[in-house]
Amino acid sequence: MTNHIYIKNKINSFNKKIKVSSDKSISIRSILLASQAVGISKISNLLESEDVLNALKAIKKLGINYKKVGKIHIIEGYGLNGFSLKKNVTINAGNSGTLARLILGLLVKSKSKVKLIGDNSLSKRDFSRVIKPLSLFGANIKDKKKSLPIEIIGSNFLRPITYNENIGSAQVKSSIIFSALNTPGITTIKSKHSRNHTELMLKFLKYPIKIQKKNNLDIISIKGLNQFSGFEYNVPGDISSASFFIVLTLLSKKSQIVIEKVNINETRLGLVSILNKMGAGIKLKKKTKQNGEDVGDIHVESKVNLKAINCPSKLNSSAIDEFLIIFLVASKAKGISRFKNLGEMNKKESKRLDLAVKFLKLIGIKVERYKNDINIHGKPNLTLSMKNFEIKNFLKDHRIFFLSCVTALTLGGNWKIHDKDSINTSFPDFLKILKMVGAKVN
Ligand code: S3P
Repeated sequence: MTNHIYIKNKINSFNKKIKVSSDKSISIRSILLASQAVGISKISNLLESEDVLNALKAIKKLGINYKKVGKIHIIEGYGLNGFSLKKNVTINAGNSGTLARLILGLLVKSKSKVKLIGDNSLSKRDFSRVIKPLSLFGANIKDKKKSLPIEIIGSNFLRPITYNENIGSAQVKSSIIFSALNTPGITTIKSKHSRNHTELMLKFLKYPIKIQKKNNLDIISIKGLNQFSGFEYNVPGDISSASFFIVLTLLSKKSQIVIEKVNINETRLGLVSILNKMGAGIKLKKKTKQNGEDVGDIHVESKVNLKAINCPSKLNSSAIDEFLIIFLVASKAKGISRFKNLGEMNKKESKRLDLAVKFLKLIGIKVERYKNDINIHGKPNLTLSMKNFEIKNFLKDHRIFFLSCVTALTLGGNWKIHDKDSINTSFPDFLKILKMVGAKVN
């Protein structure tokens, strides 16, 4: 079967109401925490993408049963460290850094050895950022290269730690929180801001976790070994998936969209803040709380007079997965947009900062790169009609695929975009929804 698509026409004006896939970060966390609960958890609207299905397969290998009844995923946990391990278990985290790093946190007390592997992209990513704190707890992690595959054997003599998480990585923070659940005493994390779904989920479960804000840091303390019961959880839409439809609308002519029931947790709203500073006028409506998370509808209309931004670095972590698509908006904005300290982008599913520069140059945008900073010279009249583009060899990064589609549909040109199946990582319905909105994709 072919694994590429063609886009040859810009999208026509549209006025639609859509829902995007459920949130990936929250889906994975809900599965992993359900695996540690006592009794049955019921999760509705779980994202059924490869990263999330790999999380379900992983807990199954660790002895946790699950089934799907109607639209509800049911997981039966046996409490903290309730995994029952066969010898020589191998867990394949596929493409998911979140699954790999978080599940390591749950294995710090495992009775036998677990090997963790991943796909080509995940095997290139840095695991020293979690190996270091988990080793401080007392877990035994065998590694040679600080990257997958790695093996972990738990310890019965875990000790709580105090750790400065200074990358601003929610994966590192959450991995430490998960280790703390299995460790006696109080673990403290002094953490740079990052998405806080793990903390909110534990609060929702009434787990003893405290968060204080101090000098731009979150001081998180977690009391270990506190059992919690199975729970019901409803996963909201993913703003990272919504981001591609937000920008599609913004850069199309005379169009409007409402994206319903999206997670609008402030630690994920960097995209909205940045685009609104550029003049996007995105509105959040029907705001409610759902299982401790903020949820709402996102309203967007086309805009022609977007202006460049001097992007405050303090927004980096809340927009970390969205910069690729933000850069496309900067390409159409008036003036030079400046983004700083984006080194973390190169530690994702692909080296996204490097690839962003390559992509922007390909579409005729002047870009200046100084290590982890980039300046993008916007061209409000940029159009690519009559040109041919082929996008391949981007390490099958799902977000590069989405970016390419939105670029083709808003700027024109003849596009052949490879690695269609990368959408299964996070947003399997992407092409279906794109066609529903009016895109012609072959
Ligand atoms: C995620 C955290 C972010 C993000 C990733 C999902 C999570 O990674 O880029 O897509 O679910 O915790 P880092 O924690 O490495 O910044």
